[in-house]
This record gives sequence, structure tokens and C-alpha cells, in this order.
Amino acid sequence: MRDVFIPSVNIGLVGHVDHGKTTLVSALTGTWTDRHSEEIKRGISIRLGYADTTFYKCEECEGAEAYTTKPECPICGKKAVPFRTVSFVDAPGHETLMATMLSGSALMDGAMLVIAANEACPQPQTKEHLMALELIGIKKIVIVQNKIDVVTQAEALEHYKQIKRFIKGTIAEDAPIIPVSAQKGINIGALIQALNEVIPEPERDPEVNPLMLIARSFDINKPGCSWREIKGGVIGGSLIRGVLHEGDDIEIRPGRQVQIENRTKWEPIETKITSIHAGKTKVTEAAPGGLLGVGTKLDPALTKSDALAGQVAGLVGKLPPIWERMTFEVTLMDRVVGADSELLIEPLKHKEPLMLSVGTAVTVGVITNTKKNLVEVMLKRAVCAEVGARIAISRQVGGRWRLIGMGVLVE
Ligand code: GTP
Repeated sequence: MRDVFIPSVNIGLVGHVDHGKTTLVSALTGTWTDRHSEEIKRGISIRLGYADTTFYKCEECEGAEAYTTKPECPICGKKAVPFRTVSFVDAPGHETLMATMLSGSALMDGAMLVIAANEACPQPQTKEHLMALELIGIKKIVIVQNKIDVVTQAEALEHYKQIKRFIKGTIAEDAPIIPVSAQKGINIGALIQALNEVIPEPERDPEVNPLMLIARSFDINKPGCSWREIKGGVIGGSLIRGVLHEGDDIEIRPGRQVQIENRTKWEPIETKITSIHAGKTKVTEAAPGGLLGVGTKLDPALTKSDALAGQVAGLVGKLPPIWERMTFEVTLMDRVVGADSELLIEPLKHKEPLMLSVGTAVTVGVITNTKKNLVEVMLKRAVCAEVGARIAISRQVGGRWRLIGMGVLVE
């Protein structure tokens, strides 16, 4: 049996800028995920935010009121029973930060699409983020109609109808729509109930080779600490399959770029796991679901400032191939949805640069060949991925990267 306090699933928060994703994470977890000084100054999320929470159920109360994130029922005051811990991945909503949003989506088992009730629906990134969920294949979606405290009941109802029209024919067509106020903590119980029903723990196979997608990496040492106390580099992310243990010898791919004669090459990095944190809990083995902090013997200079974000980790010799050049099968959408005006998407052109998101990796690939719906690209940064991996494709439109379609890695 899994420890109920260890996160078992990653739930993403996506949606247009300022619609209340970070406030909602705070309402659900008590943690404000925007910590970067630039984020505080500009009031927007720039990096991915993470926070965990445990869901509790009161045995006395009924329906949505029985669900809470507190060990004590806020309705009747009786003891509530913990039943599940989840991790939240808070994606930035600003249009310039689609790459971060896409890389975060690779970790999500399901997602909340947050839509503010005081703005017409859909806003550009409401559309673009839903499109991204669709392209990446995230089907378990709960729609959160936020900020209901600043609209009248009639306005909320009209906005609800707009949401219904917007999701018709999309992957979210049957998603529940939960009205909440993240800021005032209204209807959070109903949201927990919906999340619990819509986003169950996925089936996991502990026997397969482990694969961890790295989303962050850190140097956790304080400036000026003694060399005796120096701790090895830490990688953060999620296992998407298999199990990792303390003491495992691991490999990180594609690793580091090395110069051999006049050619650059990617060389995997090998190290040993010295510690694992699943959420706030120190564990000796980790399974998929939830976010992990994995301590290693690596020189912290290698892991500083997210240097290994976008790479993958697993047992030595058991990871997918490294690609510096790759061919994928493309499906383009009809229109660019993330901008105010919806432009038609032209076919891909020879030598065109594309932004490609594969797992948590984001790289630029320049098209070297196209044949029917097959495209070959030369990558600026190599990626480690399996044949069949999904690739979110963005192109420069009006000076910004806009999501235009999806690819499947062929060779
Ligand atoms: P990005 O991550 O930058 O895309 O923004 P966000 O979606 O995380 O929005 P954030 O949580 O930062 O909230 C934006 C603003 O809306 C803040 O000023 C919040 O206080 C406010 N806000 C969020 N939720 C609510 C709500 O339920 N009611 C009201 N009235 N304001 C809210």
C-alpha cells in the first residue's frame, strides 16, 4: 500500500494569464508557488511552480462539503481522514511562456483549466492551453470557473454557457465545470471532489525500466559553505514509469555537450542516487506520480539553475536514444489560436526553425527535409526520447512562438 501522504499523481494548472492559477494552488495547498523575485515584481508566473497537498474526507458530512485539505472538517469540526496526496504543477499563463507551459504539461496526469468568470471566454491562452492539452494527450480535465466572487449570479451563468460553447467538440467537452473563488476559498470542496473523480491514479507498472523527466535542477548549497558540507547536485521532476531507489546508478541523457576534435557531441552523465524526496517526505524508493527531488553525487555546478531541465534520467544503459537530428510525422492545426487574430497555418518550409517540446525538453529544430507529412530537423540541443514520442510544434508568428501542431517521432 502506498503511503497516503506521498503524492501519487501530478495535476497541472493551465489557463490564461491572471485567471488565478497560482491563487488556486495557494487555496488548495497553503503554498504560494511564485517565488522568483522577477515573478513577484511582475505579478506573473515565469517558471513552473510546484506544491503538494493531502485531500481529506470528513466521515460525518456528505457530498462536496465532506472534502477538505485540512485534517479537521471545516463544516462540523470533526476529524477528517486523509485519503490521497497530489502534486500541483502550476504553468505560467503569459503568451510568451508557452515553452514552459508545454514542458510542464509533460508531467501532468490530468489538468485544471482555470478560466476567470470576469472575462469573456475564451481568452487566447485559454484556447492555446486547451489545444496543448489536446495535442499532448491529457484527457483528464477539470474546468475551474474562477473569480465567481466578482460577478453576479446571472453573469456567472452566462459565462458558464460561454465555456460550454467553447469546449464543445474539444477534448474537454465532458469535463465538469466547477465554479470557485480561489481568493475567498469558495467551493474548494467541490473542486477536490471533482479532481478526485476525474483524475484517478493512473495504472503503473513497477517492473519496467524507470524514466524520470527532469523539469528543474538545483545547487542546494549555501554560498560560502565549507567544502566538507557540500551536497551533490539535485534533479527535480517526475518518474513517468518504473521505480528508482536510493543507491541506484543512474544515467542522465542527453547529458553534456563535449567537443571532440572539431565536432560537438552529447555525452550521457552517470552518477549515483544519494537521496530521494517525494513531496516533503524522504523516501528510499520512488514510484511515478508526484514530484521528486533526487539527490546525486554530481558536481552541483552541473545542476545549478535548471541546467539539466529537459533531460531524462534512468538506470545506466536503459534509457531511450539521443537524437541530434530526427524525423517526425506532422499533424498541423488549421489556425494559430494563441494570438488575438487567428491566422491560417501555412505548410512547414525548408530551413524554417521550429520550437519543439518533447517531454520536458524544449529545443529548436531547423527543417532540413520535408516529404508529405514527414519532416526532418537538425536540433540545436539534442533530446532523449523514444520512437513514438509526441512532439508539440511551435513556429514564430509575429515574433512569438505559437503552437501550430503535433508530431510523432519516427526516427
Ligand atoms: P499567471 O501564472 O501569471 O498566468 O497568473 P495566474 O493565473 O497564476 O493568476 P494569479 O493567481 O497570480 O492571480 C491573478 C490575480 O487575480 C491576483 O491579483 C489574484 O489575487 C486575483 N485572483 C485570483 N483568484 C481570484 C478570485 O477567486 N477572486 C478574485 N476576486 N481575485 C482573484
